[in-house]
Amino acid sequence: MIGIQERASRSITDILILMATMNSWTLLLFLAFLITTTNASVDSKTYIVHMDNTRMAQPGNIDQGDSRQWYESILESITESSSSSSSRLIYVYETAISGFAAKLSSEQLRSLTKVDGFLSATDDELLTLHTTHSPQFLGLRNGRGLWEDVKLNSDVIVGVLDTGIWPEHVSFQDTGMPEVPTRWKGACEGGTNFSSSNCNRKLIGARAFFKGYESVVGKINEATDYRSPRDKQGHGSHTASTAAGNMVKKASLFGLAKGSATGMKYTARIAVYKVCWRLGCANSDILAAMDSATLDGVDVLSLSLGGLARPFYVDNIAIASFSAVQRGVFVSCSAGNSGPSPSTVSNGAPWIMTVAASYLDRSFPTKVKLGNGQTFEGSSLYTGKPTARLPLVYRETAGGKGAEYCMAGTLDPKLVKGKIVICNRGLNGRTDKGQQVKLVGGAAMIMLNAKNEGEETLADAHILPATSVGASAAKAIKQYLNLSDNPTASISFRGTVYGYRAPVMAAFSSRGPSLIGPEVIKPDVTAPGINILAAWTPVTAPSLLRSDNRRVLFNIISGTSMSCPHVSGLAALLKSVHKDWSPAAIKSALMTTSYTVDNRREPISDVGSGYKVATPFAFGSGHVDPERASNPGLIYDITTVDYLNHLCSLNYNSSQIALFAKTNYTCPRDAAAHPGDLNYPSFAVLFKHGTRNVSVTHQRTATNVGIPTSRYRVQVDEPDGVSVIVKPRNLVFGKLGEKRSYKVTFVALGRSSAPSDSSFGSIAWVSGKYIVRSPVAVSWN
Ligand SMILES: *[C@@H]1O[C@H](CO)[C@@H](O)[C@H](O)[C@H]1NC(C)=O
Ligand SMILES: *[C@@H]1O[C@H](CO)[C@@H](O)[C@H](O)[C@H]1NC(C)=O
Ligand SMILES: *[C@@H]1O[C@H](CO)[C@@H](O)[C@H](O)[C@H]1NC(C)=O
Ligand SMILES: *[C@@H]1O[C@H](CO)[C@@H](O)[C@H](O)[C@H]1NC(C)=O
Ligand SMILES: *[C@@H]1O[C@H](CO)[C@@H](O)[C@H](O)[C@H]1NC(C)=O
Repeated sequence: MIGIQERASRSITDILILMATMNSWTLLLFLAFLITTTNASVDSKTYIVHMDNTRMAQPGNIDQGDSRQWYESILESITESSSSSSSRLIYVYETAISGFAAKLSSEQLRSLTKVDGFLSATDDELLTLHTTHSPQFLGLRNGRGLWEDVKLNSDVIVGVLDTGIWPEHVSFQDTGMPEVPTRWKGACEGGTNFSSSNCNRKLIGARAFFKGYESVVGKINEATDYRSPRDKQGHGSHTASTAAGNMVKKASLFGLAKGSATGMKYTARIAVYKVCWRLGCANSDILAAMDSATLDGVDVLSLSLGGLARPFYVDNIAIASFSAVQRGVFVSCSAGNSGPSPSTVSNGAPWIMTVAASYLDRSFPTKVKLGNGQTFEGSSLYTGKPTARLPLVYRETAGGKGAEYCMAGTLDPKLVKGKIVICNRGLNGRTDKGQQVKLVGGAAMIMLNAKNEGEETLADAHILPATSVGASAAKAIKQYLNLSDNPTASISFRGTVYGYRAPVMAAFSSRGPSLIGPEVIKPDVTAPGINILAAWTPVTAPSLLRSDNRRVLFNIISGTSMSCPHVSGLAALLKSVHKDWSPAAIKSALMTTSYTVDNRREPISDVGSGYKVATPFAFGSGHVDPERASNPGLIYDITTVDYLNHLCSLNYNSSQIALFAKTNYTCPRDAAAHPGDLNYPSFAVLFKHGTRNVSVTHQRTATNVGIPTSRYRVQVDEPDGVSVIVKPRNLVFGKLGEKRSYKVTFVALGRSSAPSDSSFGSIAWVSGKYIVRSPVAVSWN
């Protein structure tokens, strides 16, 4: 029972965090997830079925090479009743996985597991969705470096799996774009309020995937969502424009964050795959989209969505990403919004770029002044005049117990009219709290963080004067309420302010160590994910409230959903200057050149730990630095076979490996390979708790992509309690493309560590201007 309890409470925490970061739409997504998982006993369900296609050509089976016929014949053989087997087949996958999605009863599933060639089946489930000043913050400059015209002219296609796109948006117009490259095999699919003429030379592909979603939730209501690639919600237009939207001058939200809103690779083509609908994103649809995108010819895939972490062999996004990476597609995913608790990171397969979220140096501060003269800084996207000094009401003085969250129906109009209402964060959407206050005649709202939410104040487009404040301000305000007979306050709104300490890790950003693959450090990097200005849909208000009639071209939102497309766009930039680089090489370049020091020359700090120094389990290798990544000196490359051998070293058996390899892959006999030998650009070292005088050795191979004749020397920062020996201590290269290997031995010195303790250091290869740095994270378990 503990397991179930824990899972339930975990899900509720996720709901709160998601609500806190995404508001009610995402809440719906997560509730739906709970509903569908608790309805698990309903007999017929959708399964994603992995098959060993090498079994297909055996006697008794039909046409070799036609997997659809094979799957249909299998479904027929296990379907006892007269119901048509082909109607049960939802998708046949070509590249993402070897297999199909189908609706099956538990009886049929049992029969299926006995079919020759069956590998595994997983329930379909609904996953959740997890500017602009960010280019400047990232060091991108007009006409220079990666943003030089010749580099920008190169054709790169970014595929975005999300809630679709608003094709008429200025960010997606094709003025001056050349012809669509002939290699592009994609399509522009019509549907509700969307036709093939909605695509252009910028938005070159748009597809919608809903068969899996509809088989779980029922037919999409075309009155409330577009059954087409058109974006009802806004999230998809936002992420697509962050990765590759046009440069749009004088963009802002109500005058906030004014400047050029631009994608990281603003000359790239966009292909949109709508997989997320009102209640979530079905796994079977995501797989079908990744399948199509890879065949269509995208160069980069951006996925700002995910579920709970699970072993790679039952993680369909991990399996489908493997196929994409195998075909040279760079896959970037959000790490999740479940921090700051440890081991919350998802999308952590080694071939995926897993992106955490951090702050820019820009904020939208407010000032709360209490009647006793105390002042606090909060944040808000409200832009009106300051409030007068007004009475403060909270809980008992606002409507009674239960009114502290300002949920619908809890506030008493007689008590709150004309006053400032205080609301706790959580349970309902942040902008909904303001809506409830406004509905009953309140004048303004202050939203308090709980202790565990710390000092993270997210800015929202409230529909009345309102601000969020951090946990320490919340405590002081509650004390003041207790001690004062006539508590009062005023709120003023300071607009856009630059120069804050940054980057700082966001509290909500999901953390390592990865429970599933602790052999590599996850997340991999951090990128801007707080208060990002990007394109929005004209059919949803910036507050996401239905009662809000405001319509905007750009909106400001936060999440690892926002940091992921930054990295997708940067990968597209690197791809344009290094056409021959593999996805692993691009990843290596972004990781080894990332930085760990903020704009005050202090180590990057972490809101989630009360501004203590952030660790690689929060930001991976560090904050991305695209200009340095374009010339990293050395790269750590990884082939598909290397990844498969890594899975061998994790003791995956042949049927588990077949899910990734999609052919017969035999692990090398001399399985001396150690999981730590994957040629990863960072080092995760695992010791048993209490280990003393024990060593492990990891091997790496660096490829010279910098100066032909060069000599690198090693610089080691030893983690606490560990001695690090690198051999050799110099790497000498005579030409470009040359590879040099080295070994790193980590010796546990017998640190008196608590279980699940960790310590951190780094190994850097230095030659002139090049510093090729890899973090080291040592865990004792
Ligand atoms: C795959 O491996 C199995 C077992 O080793 C063997 O029976 C089968 O013939 C192989 N298939 C192919 C296509 O090589
Ligand atoms: C969608 O299309 C329908 C029918 O053509 C039209 O009535 C409606 O106004 C359109 N809605 C939007 C938001 O474009
Ligand atoms: C306010 O007073 C109530 C009841 O006297 C008490 O339970 C609560 O802890 C006090 N809160 C603060 C912040 O002092
Ligand atoms: C591999 O492991 C899975 C899960 O433990 C098991 O179901 C399957 O039969 C195994 N396959 C082989 C070939 O051992
Ligand atoms: C550690 O192990 C090495 C080799 O096994 C041995 O020579 C050395 O004395 C040991 N040191 C301690 C402190 O146990």
